[in-house]
Amino acid sequence: MTRRDAIRNLGLFLAGSPLLDGQYSPRATHPRVPSLEEMANVFEFEPLAHAKMMRLNYDYVAGGVEDEVTLRRNREAFDWATLLPNAMRAVEQVDLSTVVLGQPMRSPILVAPTGGQQGVHAEGDVEMHRGASAAGCTMGVSFVATFPLEQIVEAGEGALWQQIYIHLNPARARERVDQAEALGCKAIIWTVDAQYGSLRERLRHDANLGPRPSTPRDEAALRRRRRGRRNPPPSPYRISPESPDQSWDFLATMKSWTKLPVLVKGLLTAEDARLAVDNGADAIVVSNHGARYLSHCPSTFEVLPEMVDAVSGRIPVLVDGGFRRGSDILKALALGADAVLVGRPPLWGLGAFGAAGVERVLTILQTELRLAMAGCGVSKLREIDRSLIETNFP
Ligand code: FNR
Repeated sequence: MTRRDAIRNLGLFLAGSPLLDGQYSPRATHPRVPSLEEMANVFEFEPLAHAKMMRLNYDYVAGGVEDEVTLRRNREAFDWATLLPNAMRAVEQVDLSTVVLGQPMRSPILVAPTGGQQGVHAEGDVEMHRGASAAGCTMGVSFVATFPLEQIVEAGEGALWQQIYIHLNPARARERVDQAEALGCKAIIWTVDAQYGSLRERLRHDANLGPRPSTPRDEAALRRRRRGRRNPPPSPYRISPESPDQSWDFLATMKSWTKLPVLVKGLLTAEDARLAVDNGADAIVVSNHGARYLSHCPSTFEVLPEMVDAVSGRIPVLVDGGFRRGSDILKALALGADAVLVGRPPLWGLGAFGAAGVERVLTILQTELRLAMAGCGVSKLREIDRSLIETNFP
């Protein structure tokens, strides 16, 4: 049994313990639970976070759409590429610093915008910003974050990019853009791949099971809620009638709202990458929303090269989906990405150890990226190019 298996088994054991019951508990700091310093890689945070979270919240973070084919593919795709090292180059110091959209960054690693953080940790997005700031990483703030933006801003020094959806509530999206600009956020991320519903089957089963009620009143309330929620008919129609069309034309409108750069997140084809440039996007994020919406769409890593080629250096290309190792990040940089966002790993760090866990997850990724770069004989991001990688996509 590997060390990772042992930690995973311990996490699963704790997750099943009636003493924990999905709450924080003294058991979580039992000496047999590894300490923050012992965590060797980002995967090891997941079972610890699992052990501390309600089942519904864990499944919300972990799950993908339907059969989770693309969720697996987001990880598998990294095995279809190998790094080609330059063995005889002296690398004295690896420098991860970069500039994206005019913004200096300590590394090309950002925290992706994710909703539901309060289900992971009581202080959710606020605590996430503390951790991201400590690691020197820019953080995306979800449009559906539960904490007020002011409070998230105040929690740390690090830069924030505000994510918006226009299909949920365009008036609120506009307000949020104004607010983000006034509060010093550095960019707007317009996410375009989530305007219709998706079948997250783990959540449907959880809704049927429901959390364990602790009082008769809870029991009655849960029964009422379940009557309404059990197996609700799936509906693809999520756009409210008063929402503007989510179309390339709308990008100009959105850009007229703000002086901040606007990134379009959720593109997966070369054609859409070209259209993003033609319609004035300041950057794109190659993303399939962590495999949470369209089932059977490609992994982001496998479409990255054609999208980089389509953009042809005119705007930055960022990417997310399944990045868990520094070598994954190096592979994306070698294919031409300017930066990488990570979604679930900082959530695992948050759930397992709060802000300190977020910081550690991000610094582990930075360290691994440094090591992978040194192993390939490069000391600066601008020395990374396609000569470092061979891909063998199916
Ligand atoms: C997300 N993601 C997301 N994206 C977005 O633009 N707005 C949002 O509110 C959310 N919410 C959200 C919640 C949770 C729990 C997850 C896991 C993801 C998608 C996110 O920004 C990113 O695209 C993926 O998470 C990247 O994949 P990995 O790193 O999680 O594999």
